Amino acid sequence: MTSIETQLTELPAWKALGAHYKKINDLHLRKLFADDPKRGERMTVDAIGIYLDYSKHRITDETVGLLMQLAKEAGLQARIDAMFRGEKINVTENRAVLHVALRTPKGQSIIVDGQDVMSQVQSVLDKMTDFSTRVRSGEWKGYTGKPIRNVVNIGIGGSDLGPVMAYEALRHYCKRDMTFRFISNIDGTDFAEATYDLDSAETLFIISSKTFTTLETMTNAHAAREWALKSLKHPDAIARHFVAVSTNAEAVAKFGIDTANMFEFWDWVGGRYSMDSAIGISTMIAIGPDNFRAMLNGFHQMDEHFRTAPFERNLPVLMGLLGIWYNNFFDAQTIAVLPYEQYLKRFPAYLQQLTMESNGKHVTLAGGKVNYQTGPIYWGEPGTNGQHSFYQLIHQGTKLIPCDFIAFIKPLNPLGRHHDLLLANVLAQAEALAFGKTSEEVRNEGTPEWLTPHRTFVGNRPSSTILMDELTPETLGKLIALYEHCVFTQGAIWGIDSFDQWGVELGKALAMRIIAELEQEIDHHLKHDSSTNTLIKRYLRER
Ligand code: F6P
Repeated sequence: MTSIETQLTELPAWKALGAHYKKINDLHLRKLFADDPKRGERMTVDAIGIYLDYSKHRITDETVGLLMQLAKEAGLQARIDAMFRGEKINVTENRAVLHVALRTPKGQSIIVDGQDVMSQVQSVLDKMTDFSTRVRSGEWKGYTGKPIRNVVNIGIGGSDLGPVMAYEALRHYCKRDMTFRFISNIDGTDFAEATYDLDSAETLFIISSKTFTTLETMTNAHAAREWALKSLKHPDAIARHFVAVSTNAEAVAKFGIDTANMFEFWDWVGGRYSMDSAIGISTMIAIGPDNFRAMLNGFHQMDEHFRTAPFERNLPVLMGLLGIWYNNFFDAQTIAVLPYEQYLKRFPAYLQQLTMESNGKHVTLAGGKVNYQTGPIYWGEPGTNGQHSFYQLIHQGTKLIPCDFIAFIKPLNPLGRHHDLLLANVLAQAEALAFGKTSEEVRNEGTPEWLTPHRTFVGNRPSSTILMDELTPETLGKLIALYEHCVFTQGAIWGIDSFDQWGVELGKALAMRIIAELEQEIDHHLKHDSSTNTLIKRYLRER
């Protein structure tokens, strides 16, 4: 074991939490609420327009105190300060981690490698503003002189999930006479379905890739070029119908996109933290530059809150620590994120990359193997749909699944009783999970004895409720940054590098080898394991 590993589990707060867990893990939320009638008012934080109710967690004041102590002993504040200062805290890639700079208002400076990154950020934002205004107004014309009506983002992972999620989340604010599509998968179906009804003369492709080498994106980008040239004919059309977002100007030029039509970002923006960089150009075209800046402002408010609020009132710190409490002491494997807002239907998918690519690590910063659990599995679906599907397991299954319920006070589409019904459901779910229904209550309803165990809800199933006023670009920014910093908090405490992603490399390399074998029909000298060899042979034989 390295010293870093020893450090976390040897920390006094960690040990105290272990002992404390043994004392309170049987304690029921029914009792906690009965003993403290003000618990539901007390265990809340109301900051920057987010109301977090964390009272329905299996915690006492002592738990919260110990978690705060853990954050202090693990040096969380120093890590936060190092990130905001632009230190190279992504150690395995020797990079700063500065997505916070993307939303820092004009007039401040952050220096990385002797350069003020803020002036670069502002100049790209200005370029994005100019471009998106021209596209939205119809001033930017396609090759045949028609205005752009369709925008197709081609990217994958962080170069796709953020733009898709933001487009869906902010549809209410989008330019409705334009069509937005997103192509990510190497499966040709994705390309075919996204383009089948589009007129190339009115279509703009945004090739979004930090590296501009990603197999899926480059393959789809080439398909898009062929698709466009089939009808537009002349290579000069490319300049009117293709723009790029990347850190790799050389590869962009090599692909044939004029670097004047390239929106830059930098190696200190991780892919999964890039939706508010130039990767958000499709978002800006969809919602307009003012709304995009309002979104950045929301991110920034959360950044400032995270940087300055005391830990016990700090939303991402609290949520991060509660995640650690269940992950490391209750052995919970997953966290369900359940937005009661249809527009947030892609939010759980977005969070999966953010949380799992960040904290799915088993090695500490110092390179030793961790001797504790790290990132949990995040998953979810919008409510109320999930209630008629997987909630059964959350209520009565054998697994402990802490839930994040997300709801908005004001609906964007008021319709009859809908919003009251929606809100009643989210509140009811959290209540049912926490307090359940005892066998006695079930019997008193006249339930026969044999059916009673089936109808009993043990309760004591924890959840947070995140209540915000209305889904706007600004509140979306706050919500995303909340989870970004929650991930940061957890990674800092686990002592891992939340900003690299080496785990994606092996599969990519093996795929390259198999691609060659499939394309050259090499089935005689296959050197894989017998399972992979047989599968390759079968595919080659039957395709
Ligand atoms: O393979 C994983 C990954 O590198 C992600 O981290 C990233 O968001 C995605 O691929 C796309 O990468 P790029 O933007 O360089 O095409």
